[in-house]
Amino acid sequence: MGVGYMGIATALAFARRGRRVFAYDVNPRVRSRLRAGRSPYHEEGLEELLRAEVRRRRFVVVDTVQELSASAQCIFLCLPTPAGRLGRIDLSPLRRAVRELGGALRRVHGYRLVVVKSTVVPGTTESIVEPLLRRTSGRGVDLLGVATNPEFLAEGRMVQDALHPERVVVGVSDARSLRWLAAVYKGFGAPLFQLSPSGAELVKYGSNSFLALKVSFANEISRWTEVLGSNIDDVVRALGADPRIGPTFLRAGPGFGGSCFEKDLRAFRTRAEELGVPACAADAALAINQEQTEHVSELIQSAAGRLKGRTVAVLGLAFKAGTDDVRESRAFPIVERLVRDGARVRVHDPVALRNFRREWNGGVGRSLPGVRFATSAAGALRGADLAVLQADWPQYLEWPSRWSQAMRTPLVVDLRRALSPAAQERAGLRVLALGVGGGARGARPGSPRASSSRRS
Ligand code: UGA
Repeated sequence: MGVGYMGIATALAFARRGRRVFAYDVNPRVRSRLRAGRSPYHEEGLEELLRAEVRRRRFVVVDTVQELSASAQCIFLCLPTPAGRLGRIDLSPLRRAVRELGGALRRVHGYRLVVVKSTVVPGTTESIVEPLLRRTSGRGVDLLGVATNPEFLAEGRMVQDALHPERVVVGVSDARSLRWLAAVYKGFGAPLFQLSPSGAELVKYGSNSFLALKVSFANEISRWTEVLGSNIDDVVRALGADPRIGPTFLRAGPGFGGSCFEKDLRAFRTRAEELGVPACAADAALAINQEQTEHVSELIQSAAGRLKGRTVAVLGLAFKAGTDDVRESRAFPIVERLVRDGARVRVHDPVALRNFRREWNGGVGRSLPGVRFATSAAGALRGADLAVLQADWPQYLEWPSRWSQAMRTPLVVDLRRALSPAAQERAGLRVLALGVGGGARGARPGSPRASSSRRS
């Protein structure tokens, strides 16, 4: 129930493992797209899997919650829990769905297991979802199980993550729910961790807080390497060789974006206040992220010298490469600051341009006109004094020399350290890379074209 990014990947993974999956989304446009085998999102491998499972009839889209609750024995709630007021999550889509499901369950026979997959703060399933579901359905424990099963899918590799999870975490309060969930996940080859519902909800928030903290930690250390004249990637490689630290999720960049980290950390903090427990680590991760956003603008400013009247191309608008999702993308504050500083800004993304344009024009862009939405990277770069690489889509990393030649000054601020020395050399680029000390700080727009580039 609820076919957003997470719902669809989860549903298709179950279908691929041989379960019969019925899917319902409140949006009729999403339902008809899915039925036609067309994915509503850009996600590697999703559309192929969708088409195959629609054809095999293991993935069936239904038009009503009544049909869903009559057909499916185990119902996963995959509703969004967006940021709400005062740092809380907005539970209204989930509550609405639970009420409707409860009403539908009154007209259905047999035991049902309802599983909260949406990200909800610890305590939500037991104190809100379960009582609401029991009240609206009129069902006791003999006819209705309620459990939680948080997801750990990352956008851009959702299909792989859903098909091959590293762990399955279930929050259950009775043996039957556990048996059913274990059966649903049979064959996935992942260890199953059994907790209480609030324990499982805490695993989800703990995971995202810890991951966000890792990213923020790398970003903080990258400020040191910039000042000390070393390279953050070299430092992280050595740091991460200690198995107690590990090499992953320590790639410094423009700061974390996406629909989860910021929202989850804020909700976690608010929940901590309610419970009277500390959330200092989440606070630190958020504070460093904010700091990094400001630092990125300073970095761009220092590369440009002055921004007023300059033409700047921002490449990569998604919150990371591999997705068309722009929620909380660092591209927004970057573009906003550039426009406010008087630059002429052109933006490009291979798949997220439409989403970015819609969000920009519907938000801060209403009062900040003048951004040009380029349909090709070459178009964005023509006559530019400076380019900012925000998301490292593979097509940018090739950087053909005609792109540099089309720029007024072949200067790039590389926020992901993604342009290889060979590509820089070939394309005659000067690069100022985030987290790398002694970069192309001397290369100002208007200065002579680089005859050869240096490792930045
Ligand atoms: C994140 C988690 O990784 C998933 O496990 C979780 O299920 C999901 O949130 C969720 O709660 O739904 P996602 O937001 O899709 O997944 O993307 P990530 O790959 O975690 O990246 C988040 C942000 O951190 C991006 O802006 C990314 O560019 C940034 N990041 C990530 C870095 O800057 N450096 C890194 O080393 C890793």
